[in-house]
Amino acid sequence: MTREPLGVLGAGWVGLVTAACFADLGYDVVVRDVLPERIEALQAGEVPIYEPGLADLIERSRDRLAFTLEPEEVFSRARIVFVCVGTPPMYSGDADLSAVWSVLDELPMRTDGVTLVMKSTVPVGTGEKVRTELAARGLSGVGYVSNPEFLAEGTAIRNFQQPDRVVIGSFAEEHGDAVAALYVHLNAPIVRTDVASAEMIKYASNAFLATKISFINEIANVCEETGADVSVVSEGMGLDPRIGPSFLRAGLGFGGSCFPKDIAALKQLAGNSGYHFQLLTAVIEVNELQKRRVVGKLVKHLGPLRGKTITLLGLAFKPHTSDMRQASSLVLASRLLSEGAHVRGWDPVAIEEARPLLKGVDLFDDMLEALEGADAAVIVTEWDEVRNFPFDEAGRVMKTAVLVDGRNVLDPDEARRAWYVYEAIGRPGVS
Ligand code: UGA
Repeated sequence: MTREPLGVLGAGWVGLVTAACFADLGYDVVVRDVLPERIEALQAGEVPIYEPGLADLIERSRDRLAFTLEPEEVFSRARIVFVCVGTPPMYSGDADLSAVWSVLDELPMRTDGVTLVMKSTVPVGTGEKVRTELAARGLSGVGYVSNPEFLAEGTAIRNFQQPDRVVIGSFAEEHGDAVAALYVHLNAPIVRTDVASAEMIKYASNAFLATKISFINEIANVCEETGADVSVVSEGMGLDPRIGPSFLRAGLGFGGSCFPKDIAALKQLAGNSGYHFQLLTAVIEVNELQKRRVVGKLVKHLGPLRGKTITLLGLAFKPHTSDMRQASSLVLASRLLSEGAHVRGWDPVAIEEARPLLKGVDLFDDMLEALEGADAAVIVTEWDEVRNFPFDEAGRVMKTAVLVDGRNVLDPDEARRAWYVYEAIGRPGVS
């Protein structure tokens, strides 16, 4: 079967994962980005982002992938073009859609027969605005489909190859059919709908997952007051299929490039339409306060933090990524610095990304060096190295064996046997 080439606009994380996975399925894919250094790196065989399995996939499908700076190269070859450009938050919390509008500016005058497939997360109503704009520019022949991505960093390849669902919202049936056909071999449920509903499915999914996290974090905080253990509470709740076990891990709250941005955008979207989304306001506030609670736990055991050395274990917003966007380590480090503490940070992959963001923090890629002489350590990101915390070696080099487990990954009994003062989130403190 001959497959028509696909286009991808934006060689960021979503664009590269999408391009590599479609190339792996046998499609020729032309990827365009505006950054010359990014395209040069990709042409030279380098993968400019860290995502497990991505570099291998790109290498394996090298013959089917082309990287270019020229939009015409995409539009002259591909009839289905995925839009994977960034939609970062603006100061107001609204999503910045300038990269989406640039795509329209670059459409050649005779682009009929092309369908733009929006993978970037865009506010509900964007598809309708794009359609109006296309018509105003005499490009009504360009199709538009909303096909939001549900990729999580660190597991993006698996999420693409074995999706829980594929959501396709279209104005015209035939454009949706063409996009649905691309996913048919993935054997996933395909939700066909209108464009606005597809856009909302993406926001509502992220907002619901973030709500689950803030909910369990509040339960954890009440557990601390009442002597219950949130780990067991989550397990007991999660066995109810109506609740489900995932996203019930209490900790320092959520970060990353998606949840904080998307829930802020959904809140703004609601507000701009005259609706006050109260629940989301609380979800955001709980998430902010959650990171700060660690300071109280440290003060409880160390007294005032001025002059104390605190080591943050893990800096990336979650394991298996070097992404520092909205990472809990950023808020925590600045809170500790403002208390007068000396702050150190360890991470196995994110040190370079962290350096410009964590001014005043000493950074290490060796965990024991980072712990040498420290008054306390705080687990911020649940890397495997942290899950297998070297109690004995660390206990020998730390000044005082105070450990705040911000991700509830260690066994409290093991910590106690190793003579640590151990604090977790929503679990009975063990000293
Ligand atoms: C999230 C969604 O999970 C994806 O489905 C979605 O496609 C993606 O956003 C996106 O919109 O592009 P991601 O941000 O990569 O993916 O990371 P998650 O694994 O969802 O974790 C988000 C944050 O929640 C992390 O900081 C993590 O530590 C935290 N988290 C997660 C918890 O605190 N507790 C949990 O139980 C689960």
